[in-house]
Amino acid sequence: MRENERQWLTLDLLKTTEKYFRDKKIDESRLHAEILLAHVLGVSRMDLYLNHNRPVYGSELEEFRSLCRERLKGRPLQYITGEQIFYGHPFTVDERVLIPRPETELVLEHAVERLATVGDAAKERNITILDIGTGSGCLAVTLALKLPGAHITAVDLSPGALEIASHNADRHGVSKKIRFLQADALNPGFPDDLGGNYDLILSNPPYIPEPEWEGLQPEVKEHEPKTALTTPDGFAFYHAITVSAAVLLRSRGILCFELHADGARKVSEIVRARGFEGIEVYKDYAELDRVLSGVWSG
Ligand SMILES: C[S@@+](CC[C@H](N)C(=O)[O-])C[C@H]1O[C@@H](n2cnc3c(N)ncnc32)[C@H](O)[C@@H]1O
Repeated sequence: MRENERQWLTLDLLKTTEKYFRDKKIDESRLHAEILLAHVLGVSRMDLYLNHNRPVYGSELEEFRSLCRERLKGRPLQYITGEQIFYGHPFTVDERVLIPRPETELVLEHAVERLATVGDAAKERNITILDIGTGSGCLAVTLALKLPGAHITAVDLSPGALEIASHNADRHGVSKKIRFLQADALNPGFPDDLGGNYDLILSNPPYIPEPEWEGLQPEVKEHEPKTALTTPDGFAFYHAITVSAAVLLRSRGILCFELHADGARKVSEIVRARGFEGIEVYKDYAELDRVLSGVWSG
């Protein structure tokens, strides 16, 4: 603390920062102030209130101010703290991976539900799963935690993403259950190194059409990896992954995609035309079509 500077206490600092963030048009100003201060002090948000008179000392104050400046410049909170919660589990993130979104939790739920209804229960103990475009590994790692007998392959084109995903697998103690591979899902030779007979293939692929990129919020387009989000027309990955899935899935295996909100009709056509049946579309919390699955009839 500089001489003559006031001694900040936790609650005063939160109130002042909340007001400052609000004046600068930062959404959820109180929550963001709490998350940043809890991160700097290494405590939970609840602890901030349990110890509301705790002094915030010089170096802590400096670090907190520096993180607040990053937030004011538009850097997403999750990249500042290096963490996002997905399905109740903490995932390490940085600018090399997409920040996992709540909608993607629905992909996981729907895929597990379909496995239970379409697959046979005995097999579920040893199912094989392929996650295409794993990013932070949020789907692969959460599936490994949720389905203890599953063997999972997680692929991504980005070496940086694979580094983070495998760190997250270590962090959650499931690295022995996940094989990480660098591969290009758009390459026609994609299935060659992946084996076969998968019970489930799931993917949250890049699906934002290039022309929509400029209209995205600055927080997304200035900080999140463009290659994780866009394709020229929005459907290249659905085409390519559906073709590969027809080779890689066992008979009655399940293909499950996250969708662009306007993509359900087109992706249904792509998947049906390849020979998938039992196609189901799930809506998200905003009542938008968000998840599609189909059963391989081959
Ligand atoms: C929308 S992100 C999904 C990340 C993560 N599964 C999630 O749901 O948060 C798409 C991922 O696909 C990866 N990707 C982009 N192009 C790819 C390609 N040609 N082959 C394989 N993965 C690719 C990106 O690096 C990114 O991690």
